[in-house]
Amino acid sequence: MDIQTIDPVAAYRQAVNPFRADVIAGRGWPELFREATGTYLTDADGRRYLDMIAQNGGALLGHRHPRVVAALSEVIAGGSPFIVPLGLPGAAGPLAVRLCELAGAALERVYFCTGGSEAVENAMKFAMAATGRQGFVSFGRGFHGFTPGPLPMAGHDYWRLPLAGAEWTHGDYRQVPFGDVAALEAALAANDVAAVFVEPVQGLGGARAWEPEALAAVGRVCAAHGTLLVADEILTGIGRTGDWFGFQESGVAPDMVTVSKGLSGGMVPVAALLMTEAVHRAVYSSPGRAYIHNSTFEGHLLGMTAGLTVLDVIQEEGLLEHTRDIGALLRAELEKLVAEDIGVRAVRGRGLLLAVRIAGLTDPDAPDGAAACVDLLVRRGVLLESAAHDQSWLRLTPALTLTPQGVAEFTGALRDSALELAARRAGG
Ligand SMILES: Cc1ncc(COP(=O)(O)O)c(C=O)c1O
Repeated sequence: MDIQTIDPVAAYRQAVNPFRADVIAGRGWPELFREATGTYLTDADGRRYLDMIAQNGGALLGHRHPRVVAALSEVIAGGSPFIVPLGLPGAAGPLAVRLCELAGAALERVYFCTGGSEAVENAMKFAMAATGRQGFVSFGRGFHGFTPGPLPMAGHDYWRLPLAGAEWTHGDYRQVPFGDVAALEAALAANDVAAVFVEPVQGLGGARAWEPEALAAVGRVCAAHGTLLVADEILTGIGRTGDWFGFQESGVAPDMVTVSKGLSGGMVPVAALLMTEAVHRAVYSSPGRAYIHNSTFEGHLLGMTAGLTVLDVIQEEGLLEHTRDIGALLRAELEKLVAEDIGVRAVRGRGLLLAVRIAGLTDPDAPDGAAACVDLLVRRGVLLESAAHDQSWLRLTPALTLTPQGVAEFTGALRDSALELAARRAGG
């Protein structure tokens, strides 16, 4: 079969997901992109877009960062095996040591896997093993993955209700309002919860950040009830908030941390579950249990290589500092739009995980203004999305390499789009 002769859009419609293709066509978004470089994407017609989504935060260093491309090309061309079930994955140890050093707290061991949902699913299993308990607590508007373990922890019905078995009554899941430490205390009171999952800054919730003191209090409440705290940093980990990990600002010491997306700069599917020695020991407790939990792609050479290179680039290029600076600039420019009173209502978030609230078209609180704004921005050559769990907010997860020019380009396009929407509102 010559794949050159197959129309990729028709084939996608035929054999992958026709409804996704319908949504994209209906919104007038580009269907195919042919090039990805730095913070820009180019579509099949040669149109360039500033990418403020960056693979939902995964393209942490921009698309196809040359250092990661070179490192991956080298190992692909080299002679090392990618996976060695009867040996040790050689690059896994060095990456694990680096991650633990950067995370600090008491995180001393790492389990590598291939995606965010899998990392969270594994954290649930390890928490059950370590505590002998079955209960899980998450926070309103949160999100922790699509597989059956994490899905009921989603703080929004959208992902669960339309599916068969809609009640999702398996397991013991409890949800407490975001930021409500007293409600958490009540949920843990019976000492039967294995783990609390928290995003230091919510992603799908639209960049809602925990106050550092409140997050520290979550840690204290968990410790008092023998419940493990899992920081889900699939999105926030590896620099996005301006720290290596989002939990670090609060001083809390999680028992486990999940990371994925940006760990490989978005170039290889990889995820990591960092944990304390105590949690690890509950699973891998003896030589007889050395393989008690593993996976075919665990410690794959490409993922490990990309991870080590991404950490090098962030350190050598001072990208944590840059993220804090450029995030502050972006935020300040967005605040100026808020002050102009043109339908840009508020800004929130941390580092380069920010969200901006757009007034609705008739009801100011309705999400239709944000949706219309996304479409206008795409037409102006800027890619971004509404926050899935709080849809009047536009979510920004650009590459950490965003420049002041990129900030100006984005805020200029947002201002023009907001003015166009304001005119639409005024016209009734
Ligand atoms: C905080 C968080 N946890 C888990 C996940 C699930 O990750 P994945 O889509 O890689 O399965 C996501 C994905 O958006 C996420 O943002």
